[in-house]
Amino acid sequence: MANDVALSVKDLKTFFYTERRLNRAVNGVSFEIKKGKTLCIVGESGCGKSVTASTIMQLLPTLSRIEEGEIVYHSDRGDIRIDQLERDGKQMRAIRGSEIAMIFQDPMTALNPVYTIGFQIGESLTYHTDLSRSQKRARIVELLKNMGIPLPEKRAGEFPHNYSGGMRQRAMIAMAMSCNPKILIADEPTTALDVTIQAQIFELMDTLKREHDTAIMLITHDMGVVAELADEVAVMYMGNIVEAGTVDDVLRRPRHPYTRALLDSIPVLGRGKNQKIQSIRGSTPDPYDRPVGCQFAPRCDYATDACKAMPDEENISDTHRIMCWNYEEIAARD
Ligand SMILES: Nc1ncnc2c1ncn2[C@@H]1O[C@H](COP(=O)(O)OP(=O)(O)O)[C@@H](O)[C@H]1O
Ligand SMILES: [Mg+2]
Repeated sequence: MANDVALSVKDLKTFFYTERRLNRAVNGVSFEIKKGKTLCIVGESGCGKSVTASTIMQLLPTLSRIEEGEIVYHSDRGDIRIDQLERDGKQMRAIRGSEIAMIFQDPMTALNPVYTIGFQIGESLTYHTDLSRSQKRARIVELLKNMGIPLPEKRAGEFPHNYSGGMRQRAMIAMAMSCNPKILIADEPTTALDVTIQAQIFELMDTLKREHDTAIMLITHDMGVVAELADEVAVMYMGNIVEAGTVDDVLRRPRHPYTRALLDSIPVLGRGKNQKIQSIRGSTPDPYDRPVGCQFAPRCDYATDACKAMPDEENISDTHRIMCWNYEEIAARD
């Protein structure tokens, strides 16, 4: 294992069991997050991005479980099989929130309504660091200030319900960043925020990367953000990573019909006003009633008989991989 890798996920499957029905929410994904780099995960709503993130954090909702696969955290103390740790055991609690931190799509997942924001950030610092009382106090104020929260001394003493939605989001980001994590998982972290604050937060994530070599997994549907921040990109569809590679591989040389359709469906900064925006035809299948074989086949313009079987993962190059039977033929038509 190269020592530039912070986290490796191998053939991970996370399934939901509801009313005796089965949803293969994450259906065999493999990827690595590298130290000091950003991996962006993209894909339409429901494709398994958040479930992948919660699986790594061992914060899965009830009715779901890791079915197969490995999650290895390459810590300074050696490799740790996250998937084998007890969800609320001592080891997982020590790692979660300090070495591996997460910014959730919904801030109330991370914030407790009955404690002040300052207290909650302080708790995390008490649990995971040796800072003195006054150092903690200073760190809390600094973190809130960095997030653009006005009057941070005063605001630290307020409760989540005193904060606006955008401010809660920022308080949670402050909490996630408080212990300078080795791995930061950010699930659509800036969706509710205005562009100035968004830029500020990405700047802080960048600082974390530079100063602490933090590995970042950033879930986003904003291709502008991907183009700007990603080192590597993984495209998910119905529980699979259908294409992955460097940002150049995936944004400039997309090979999977889904990636191409996704890129055509979203305005991309720098492509000018005249770009054709075309929505992806059809809709994502019912997760409880999935197509057999390639999940994208029913919406794919290039589908053939071969697509009735699930495609293997194939390497196009050292950095670029794909799950599509027909990618070579499709490329030849360009
Ligand atoms: N708490 C839950 N209970 C049941 N099914 C869920 C739950 N959370 C997610 N799922 C299902 O898992 C699949 C992946 O969802 P998710 O990871 O949230 O998608 P997204 O890519 O939009 O983050 C979807 O089919 C979704 O319906
Ligand atoms: Mg999500």
